[in-house]
Amino acid sequence: MAKNANLGQAKAAKNDEFYTQYADIQKEVNAYIEYNPDVFRGKTILLPCDDPEWSNFTKFFAQNFEFFGLKKLISTSYAIESKKYKTDWQPTLFETENPMYNVEKSRIKGKIFTLTHDTNANGRIDIDDLQWSYLEGDGDFRSAEVTALRDEADIIITNPPFSLFREFLAWIMEGGKQCLVIGNMNAITYKEVFPLIKDNKLWLGTTDVRWFYQESTNSPLYEAAHSRWFTNIDHGARHKPLQLMSMADNLKFNKKLKGQTEYQHYDNYDAIEVPYTEVIPNDYSGVMGVPISFMDKYCPEQFEILGSTQRGCHDLVPDTRKYDDYWECKPNGERTGSSGGKTNENGNLLKNDGVHNYFENIEGRQIQSTYGRIFIRKKQ
Ligand SMILES: C[S@@+](CC[C@H](N)C(=O)[O-])C[C@H]1O[C@@H](n2cnc3c(N)ncnc32)[C@H](O)[C@@H]1O
Repeated sequence: MAKNANLGQAKAAKNDEFYTQYADIQKEVNAYIEYNPDVFRGKTILLPCDDPEWSNFTKFFAQNFEFFGLKKLISTSYAIESKKYKTDWQPTLFETENPMYNVEKSRIKGKIFTLTHDTNANGRIDIDDLQWSYLEGDGDFRSAEVTALRDEADIIITNPPFSLFREFLAWIMEGGKQCLVIGNMNAITYKEVFPLIKDNKLWLGTTDVRWFYQESTNSPLYEAAHSRWFTNIDHGARHKPLQLMSMADNLKFNKKLKGQTEYQHYDNYDAIEVPYTEVIPNDYSGVMGVPISFMDKYCPEQFEILGSTQRGCHDLVPDTRKYDDYWECKPNGERTGSSGGKTNENGNLLKNDGVHNYFENIEGRQIQSTYGRIFIRKKQ
């Protein structure tokens, strides 16, 4: 196998083991509590793909069990032998000092932790009341055993393995559950995820998450840029409309559009290109292509989402031109050897800025592609 493919797989396996900081969980969950103090009352929460012995998800929800009015908290972990990223793992004292400890099972079984009541009779329900046992299997969320826990739960909350995000989200949706999960911002344009976003069945949370630790809470922090919370639990931030200016005022006063006299129309979509969220005009009633980061500010009462430039995600805004007879050139005019077909369905603009690669056809027509775009329209 090529060295790069090996490196890619090793990186993906390592990223699958990124653990979430307590403060990040607290900041995000507080936003839902602020919006609806009873959001978790009487609910069963499942925290899969966790490691309850030192995960902050389990700690946070166990500590707030009474305050949130939870009915039941369940968290499950994935067996060490099943993890793709190998470490010199040792069982914790918590496990080895427990009469249930089993050397064999410890490496190959997942664990389940549950919290329902005050087991130590100290007058409160908290982390010390968690009960645990080994699972029958390795704790894979796709197993029948963990799927049954999903079905029992009302809400699924976790930071799932990054490499299985699509599958994990599909698993939640198949169960028809509420969720709060971490994923990469780019997941918005995955063809499995985008339809949910478009139909307001899934949206972004309120904060971003950037720094994670690995293996132990004492490890250094690792950066996973562009990580976001994905949820279908309502919060206040998504009902705050963006404050925007008219098209004329943007062109006149907005520094981001310096030198521009108009909003450019795409060469292959009946829509205008809006390169930054801040410059979305508040008086344009047609379709606009906006950056994916717009989703952080999306208010469903203000705009409707129609599609994205991702293949298979723009039935309502069809592309009107293909580029199979174009070829790609570097800024210096040298051909790269790639056909223009590779920019089909991107948001393409009739221009050549002299800085980025461009595509040209036999008539000398030159176009450049934008980054991924979301198509939106102002709500009437
Ligand atoms: C990104 S880490 C997050 C851990 C924890 N939820 C947190 O955020 O602190 C994902 C966890 O899922 C585990 N995992 C990987 N594949 C899994 C699978 N198929 N089923 C269940 N868990 C899995 C990983 O070993 C890792 O412990």
